[in-house]
Amino acid sequence: MIIVLIGYMASGKTSIGKKLAEKLNYSFLDLDDFIEDKENLSVSKIFKTKGEIYFRKQEALYLKALLNSEKNTILSVGGGTPCYSGNMDIILAAKNVKCIYLKASLPTLANKLLLKKAKRPLIAHIETIEEMTEFIGKHLFERSQYYNQAEIKVSIDKKTKDDVVEDIILSLF
Ligand code: S3P
Repeated sequence: MIIVLIGYMASGKTSIGKKLAEKLNYSFLDLDDFIEDKENLSVSKIFKTKGEIYFRKQEALYLKALLNSEKNTILSVGGGTPCYSGNMDIILAAKNVKCIYLKASLPTLANKLLLKKAKRPLIAHIETIEEMTEFIGKHLFERSQYYNQAEIKVSIDKKTKDDVVEDIILSLF
């Protein structure tokens, strides 16, 4: 089985994905890391030098390749992955794939992202909590229609990563 973790930037897809993989004895893959390896460039550099459209094309391409894996895998994707190129339909239609939305409230995301914006080209320029909250609020409004199609939704607010892993396991099995 492949378990795909989706959710907004800083919702914990990578860190929770790694813990979940350890607990279930699954492999772990992060789509952004995979893209960086294959393209030999950081996500920020890809956005800067080749543009977002190029990034989205490569993202869709590598996602399809990884969804074909026969190994038990936890796959964390980027915050934008489900929202482009029909990727959410592809994830939902893929065989032996379960999709989980790690859901976080606007204040949780805005506070976390103000500290973790540097490597994220879409928000790196935002300076204040007010601006960050406004940007994420609008962005989440557009993206939620994709995220909410996940079969399983798990809230991360006010929980430790281990709590979230437990909640995921309870909803999976
Ligand atoms: C993006 C999220 C990032 C990365 C890229 C674009 C987005 O991944 O794919 O910067 O559109 O939300 P994380 O969600 O892991 O930060």
